[in-house]
Amino acid sequence: MSGLGETIVDAESIRRRIGELAAAIDSHYADIDGSVVLLCVLKGALIFTADLVRRLTVPVEIEFVAMRSYGDGTRSSGRPALTTEVAAQLRGRDVLIVEDIVDTGHTVAALREHLAELGARSVRLVVLLDKTSRRARPVHVDWRGFDIPDRFVVGYGLDHGERYRNLADVRVLDSA
Ligand code: IMP
Ligand code: MG
Repeated sequence: MSGLGETIVDAESIRRRIGELAAAIDSHYADIDGSVVLLCVLKGALIFTADLVRRLTVPVEIEFVAMRSYGDGTRSSGRPALTTEVAAQLRGRDVLIVEDIVDTGHTVAALREHLAELGARSVRLVVLLDKTSRRARPVHVDWRGFDIPDRFVVGYGLDHGERYRNLADVRVLDSA
């Protein structure tokens, strides 16, 4: 059995931090030719993407990709798989991956390799939560919301067995 534990990042802190991330991203892409393709990694980054996109002023498009590495457990399988291909043509595009959390780094590393194969012109990464201490593969994070400890967390899009995505705060999942 598992239950909700302490709040690691509350809704107000997330809101404030997203404003700062959006300002940094806006200034990075200020002179962009065309628009930035925000690539939301389903399902976890759904809520982060929705909040971030409304704080950006650079021209954006929104696309989705689905990756799966966890199943119903709380540890990465280490073999992330794309479960839905990106629908849009990304050749020559400036892509910004929007992720909920980077843990071992396998998911984002695999996605970056895939986007390079698709011929994206540039690939950057914004991630809300980062468990830097758990990294198994080096990952360059361009913009990071919060560095968090090695605890399994839920809420604000993150799930455990598909539950808890609707929580406004990010909370630890305690296992009993
Ligand atoms: P990585 O491949 O180990 O970096 O794992 C990244 C993916 O695992 C994320 O996109 C999340 O979907 C999931 N994940 C990692 N840590 C957590 C967590 O603490 N709670 C919920 N999902 C997590
Ligand atoms: Mg994810």
